[in-house]
Amino acid sequence: MPRTIAFANQKGGVAKTTTTLAISAALAERGRRVLTVDMDPQGALTYSTGIDPDALDETVNDVLVRRLPVEKVVVTREVDVVPANIDLAGAEAILLAKTGREYALQRALRDVGDTYDFVLIDCPPSLGILTINALTAAQEVVIPLQCEALSHRGVGQLIETLADIRHFTNPDLEIFGLIPTMYDGRSLHAREVLNDVGRRYGVTVLEPPVKKSIRLAEAAQAGLSILAYAPGHAAADAYREHARQLDDRRVDVKLQPEGVS
Ligand SMILES: Nc1ncnc2c1ncn2[C@@H]1O[C@H](COP(=O)(O)OP(=O)(O)O)[C@@H](O)[C@H]1O
Ligand SMILES: [Mg+2]
Repeated sequence: MPRTIAFANQKGGVAKTTTTLAISAALAERGRRVLTVDMDPQGALTYSTGIDPDALDETVNDVLVRRLPVEKVVVTREVDVVPANIDLAGAEAILLAKTGREYALQRALRDVGDTYDFVLIDCPPSLGILTINALTAAQEVVIPLQCEALSHRGVGQLIETLADIRHFTNPDLEIFGLIPTMYDGRSLHAREVLNDVGRRYGVTVLEPPVKKSIRLAEAAQAGLSILAYAPGHAAADAYREHARQLDDRRVDVKLQPEGVS
């Protein structure tokens, strides 16, 4: 069975989609077979892989609601993508009326069997039924976190949701770690926020942080991961490093630079 990893944070704009795609591409670069699932009705992951969300007839929505097999909707780009568009917004209401509503994605992914080594799921910016489906289908969760003032405020709530998920639907769900994004290395504050969040919630903060760069937005516009768009860019290397740690199932904790912690 593939390792299934959800990228979750109910705050929008923290680089969930960017991180999901970049790590998918980095795992593919390592020779892993990767399926990336867009669970956001906004379809940003779909768009960021060069697919026009509005031109799709069948999406993850049909997989969740009509039980269409995953392979019927997969679009192959840098990695295989289960796309989404605004139709998915309707799935919330339909799923809520169903028994086993938390398990729709898990059930669908069971059928992909050993076709993939990794399934990476991009969550929407909410803790609603779509995110709950992703967290129920996953074995691990990665939390992208923007290193800015107050950006950590929602982390406690997310951790509580993960505890609920363990209690009700997925006892073995593990937090792999936090990935610091949009990092401004010049700001002491960013490093403080990171250290504080890691300590307070007992969650590992992965190294290295992904620095702030306009190139990430450019890559999304071009329909490419940062690895394909600017292979030598520091952010591409940072995500390669996270992918290596995921692939090795080992987090390398680096000592904080002196005078910065
Ligand atoms: N390291 C970064 N530096 C600057 N901008 C980034 C970085 N990572 C992502 N972005 C941009 O920030 C915006 C939000 O990122 P996105 O991945 O869509 O977040 P989310 O999925 O959490 O809403 C996008 O325009 C994206 O291109
Ligand atoms: Mg997103």
